[in-house]
Amino acid sequence: MSTQVRVKSIIEECEGVKTFVLEAPRGVDTAFAAGAHLDVALGAELSRSYSLVPVPGETGCYAFSVRLAPDSRGGSRHLHEAVRQGDTLWVSETRNNFALAEEAPYSYFFAGGIGITPFLSMLERLVVLDRPWELHYASRDRTSAPFLERLQRLAKASGNKVVLYFDDQGGRERWSVARIVADAAPQAHFYCCGPEGMLADFRERTAGCTERAHYEYFAADTEAATESGGELELARSGKVVKVAPGQTILEALQGAGLDVPFSCREGTCGTCEVGLLEGEADHRDMLLSEEEQAENQSLMVCCSGFKSPRLVLDL
Ligand code: FES
Repeated sequence: MSTQVRVKSIIEECEGVKTFVLEAPRGVDTAFAAGAHLDVALGAELSRSYSLVPVPGETGCYAFSVRLAPDSRGGSRHLHEAVRQGDTLWVSETRNNFALAEEAPYSYFFAGGIGITPFLSMLERLVVLDRPWELHYASRDRTSAPFLERLQRLAKASGNKVVLYFDDQGGRERWSVARIVADAAPQAHFYCCGPEGMLADFRERTAGCTERAHYEYFAADTEAATESGGELELARSGKVVKVAPGQTILEALQGAGLDVPFSCREGTCGTCEVGLLEGEADHRDMLLSEEEQAENQSLMVCCSGFKSPRLVLDL
């Protein structure tokens, strides 16, 4: 992690969701591209990636919003229960795996619950660019939907559209990515961030226009590829590292003393991406497209394994 920041304020957005506003040291450029995220260190072995959210009136700050997950493995629980105003945290540089296609003639956004967070910066950016959009926003109910009023104000002021789908008002029955994609403006782009089922449906419904369909996972829907094990050659040093069955490539690299950056450990953040110079990986990440995985030019070492017995890494 590269920058130490101070928790300037903690905002209760709605039931179970807090926004952490982090004051960066003087001179640090906190501007970020729409859709970007940063990694936050939450302990020696724990870090998490969070989408950056713009906070009106704040400059020189990063901010991210977190829902307290009932099954939290430490990330959201630690932030909600242990982090206080005035505390210091270490954060990474900002990264963007969920970039906005700014030139799109029309953009459709599908958000589920806290999956709304990357869209805040994207929608505001499109307003600045005067590009039309519509947001389809699903949540359990009105009280658990973060940023609802802000988004409605933004849509109203810019002539765009927010359609709400609350479970307690028949939202699940009305939700239809298929219908919206079928009726979409030509060359429109589609974005989705939300729970696994929503993402799976989105990927299926947009299969015919994958270059215009963008999605971001919270959590992986597959296990790391650790079945076979294999051999790594590190091209820069010539060192050879064995990966035992049951071990991830990241674990083997760490065991060999390499300091490889990582965050989510499940193929969703992109922090551990490493160039692949030779060999075929068993890709299990949620970031690379099928084409990129087939090209085998890089891999996420936290979750990918071996299809060929030896991989040459750009390390
Ligand atoms: S650590 Fe997040 S993709 Fe590997």
